[in-house]
Amino acid sequence: AGVCVIIPAAGSGTRLGEPVPKAFVDVCGRTIIERCVDNIPDSLDASIVVVVPADLVDRARELLPDVTIVPGGAHRSESVRAGIAAADAADILLVHDAARPLTPAHVFTRVVEAVASGHPAVVPGLPVADTLKQVVVSDDGLERVERTVDREPLRAVQTPQGFTREALLRAHADDSGLATDDAGLAERCGIDVHVVPGDPLAMKVTTPWDLKIIRDVVSESAE
Ligand code: CTP
Ligand code: MG
Repeated sequence: AGVCVIIPAAGSGTRLGEPVPKAFVDVCGRTIIERCVDNIPDSLDASIVVVVPADLVDRARELLPDVTIVPGGAHRSESVRAGIAAADAADILLVHDAARPLTPAHVFTRVVEAVASGHPAVVPGLPVADTLKQVVVSDDGLERVERTVDREPLRAVQTPQGFTREALLRAHADDSGLATDDAGLAERCGIDVHVVPGDPLAMKVTTPWDLKIIRDVVSESAE
């Protein structure tokens, strides 16, 4: 039994373009990583490992004294492996992007319940609202549409992604560096990945626009 949440927070936030790494950006008086850790429901009684840039380990330990802090690597998957190495003996491991600081409690519990009920790998996902076009760059330099993709069976996938310990270890045993999420590594090992409903509040902060939305949501809910 037991749940451990591993939070990769060691990215630099290049696309966000703030002067500090993304997890350390302020949102209405608290850093993104503090908000992210705060949103993990107490009911899970989870241990927490946060993976940060090597030069911010001390800062992270000040901000999060009750959490295990370890330095990350150059790629997200390396940071996740650093987190796995520091995790306790929990049977269920969640991997959760620091960059999703408003993820509601029910997303965590849904993922954990689905893993606990016997699914080795579970991700939260949402239907895609936009019409999706597959393009190629044509001779004149413009993108030309090859086809419209059927969006009905597509899901935009979020975190926390939940795994049995065995599934996450297997997924990360052979990482050739291409997957952008942990479930992608699991898929490549032939592990079944199931999808439970995600939530718009589990959105990822990637760009300055995303940060504006997150700040607006936080300041509105504080009113
Ligand atoms: N991450 C990490 N270690 C890395 C790269 C990313 O722990 N070497 C983490 C980020 O901190 C983030 C999550 O993985 O919580 C998702 O990555 P992303 O949104 O791409 O964040 P960054 O890599 O920081 O942003 P960018 O790609 O714009 O630089
Ligand atoms: Mg990145």
